Order: sequence, then structure tokens, then C-alpha cells
Amino acid sequence: MAGASIAVASDHAGFDLKELLKRDLQDAGHDVLDLGTNSTASVDYPDFGKAMADAIASGRAGRGVLVCGTGIGISIAANRNPRVRAAVIHDVTSARLSREHNDANVIAFGQRLIGTEVAREALKIFLATTFEGGRHAARVAKLSKD
Ligand code: RB5
Repeated sequence: MAGASIAVASDHAGFDLKELLKRDLQDAGHDVLDLGTNSTASVDYPDFGKAMADAIASGRAGRGVLVCGTGIGISIAANRNPRVRAAVIHDVTSARLSREHNDANVIAFGQRLIGTEVAREALKIFLATTFEGGRHAARVAKLSKD
């Protein structure tokens, strides 16, 4: 994984799950870079998706966790950067495949949609699973081309 830290970011609608997952990561011994938001006061998800993209693109973080209400808006924002491969995840199988096939470097959750325990387990699997490479490598490389 490029970069030791795992960055976390959310908007107001994802704040509670972001905080829970941050604590899980810290308890597991990870170095966590919290990019906000810092409360449930209303904010705009594109700002936090962009902050995540900057952290990944600069190498300040090797992996990232995003949370908004659905996971959709904040992942769209992050994926505008070609160095980001953010996957919206609703189950553990998708978490595994996003790593094995897509080399996803950011996992995104919708706090309003996903069960807390599913999100916690999916994040563990996301972090533990390696990219398969092989036939997937050229496809993933194409994602970063203009
Ligand atoms: C905020 O209300 C909500 O729209 C946002 O968290 C997210 O779900 C957008 O995709």
C-alpha cells in the first residue's frame, strides 16, 4: 500500500459512521488521517471527496474511507481525480472484489443505507485483500488514462 496512513472523510450524513470506523482503525493500530467533517452540522460532500482525492494523490494516505448519506456523492467527487479508485460498497463480497479486480484504493459507504456491522466487516476485508493483477492490471491502468 502506497503511504502508511488511512484517510477518513465524511459529510454530516456520514459523520457517525466515519467516527466509528475511525475508532476501529485506530484500535487495529492504523495511522488515521481524519479529513473531517467534525460534527453533524451540514456541509457539502464534494469538499470532503476532494480532500480525500488530494490526500491519496499526494501520497499522504495510501487508502481511504469515505462516508456520506448514500456513499454516492462523496465517491463521485473523489473519483474525479484519476489516481482515485473509490468503490461504493454495500456488502463484504463487493469489498473483496473491489480490491481483487479493481485495485480500489478508497471504500465509500452510505450511512443511511448500510448496517453498521456490515460496514465494519467490509472495511476489514477491504484492507486485508490484495489486488490480483494479471488480466485485471491493464484494465485498471486504463482507468487512469484521459
Ligand atoms: C446529504 O443530505 C446527502 O445528500 C449526502 O450525504 C449524500 O448522500 C449525497 O450523495
